[in-house]
Amino acid sequence: MADLDDIRDGREYGVGVAQRTDGFFLKGSNNLDWGMKDRLSRIFNPATGRTVMLAFDHGFIMGPTSGVERIDLSIVPLIEHADCLMCARGVLRALVPPTSRKPVCLRSDAGTSILTELNHNVVIDIQDAVKLNASAIAVMVSVGDAATEAETVANLYQAVDAGQASGIPVMGVTAVGKDMARDARYFGLASRLCAENGANIVKTYYTEGFEKVVACCPVPIVIAGGKKLPELEALDLAYRAIQSGASGVDMGRNVFQSEKPAAMIQAVGAVVHQGLKPAEAFQMFNDLK
Ligand code: 5RP
Repeated sequence: MADLDDIRDGREYGVGVAQRTDGFFLKGSNNLDWGMKDRLSRIFNPATGRTVMLAFDHGFIMGPTSGVERIDLSIVPLIEHADCLMCARGVLRALVPPTSRKPVCLRSDAGTSILTELNHNVVIDIQDAVKLNASAIAVMVSVGDAATEAETVANLYQAVDAGQASGIPVMGVTAVGKDMARDARYFGLASRLCAENGANIVKTYYTEGFEKVVACCPVPIVIAGGKKLPELEALDLAYRAIQSGASGVDMGRNVFQSEKPAAMIQAVGAVVHQGLKPAEAFQMFNDLK
């Protein structure tokens, strides 16, 4: 029988003090379920609303490209400086220490390499993302590529259904269609399409007029770094994207192919979270290096 004698009458009801009902800090995410918000709060720092994702999923289409030949040597030492890790499941299981305590955005489509046609992809079973405790899954969409657009949009749609069922946010990754101009009109269309199909985060590329791309996308945008640039230019890219309203970066080559990757990711972090100007961040990079 329950021990009723030990139930004390409550006294601190706070009568007259309204219960706080806070909005969620992330654009377009207020109506999501608790689990989705919890996972998004691990990826995006609630204090700044931004994130530095470290992308090292390149091997899943490119093989051992420069900087990711030995993830254990080049990437693992950078993990402590990242807000979130973006990689494929094989590398995650084989090389990323589960003691890292970092959220993972799991690359969740597969199917082709750079040796054949890109993007005829399938989406991994959501149960594997659940088992890996993924904080988000990433799926590529080839807007404007006649051969693969419908298939990749369907992949995204299916991933969103599966993600919703398990409380896992989906990041739509815009792959630039072969014949598309890399301008704000194209990235605005591609980003919006991802969001309209249910993506909770969109990853795209910075371009002139990026503020319009961000303004018409109802969910947070992070930018890819793209090809390796001189450090100052990469910091300038990150700065412009953030000033245009991006919620962070998902950067790979401009970090792990840098002369000093640990210094670079910290300098990128200062641009993203503290709003350092490119010259200040470059100074920081040089000091750390
Ligand atoms: C490719 C990806 C890559 O992870 C992405 O492009 C980020 O890497 P980088 O900064 O090297 O461009 O999602 O689809």
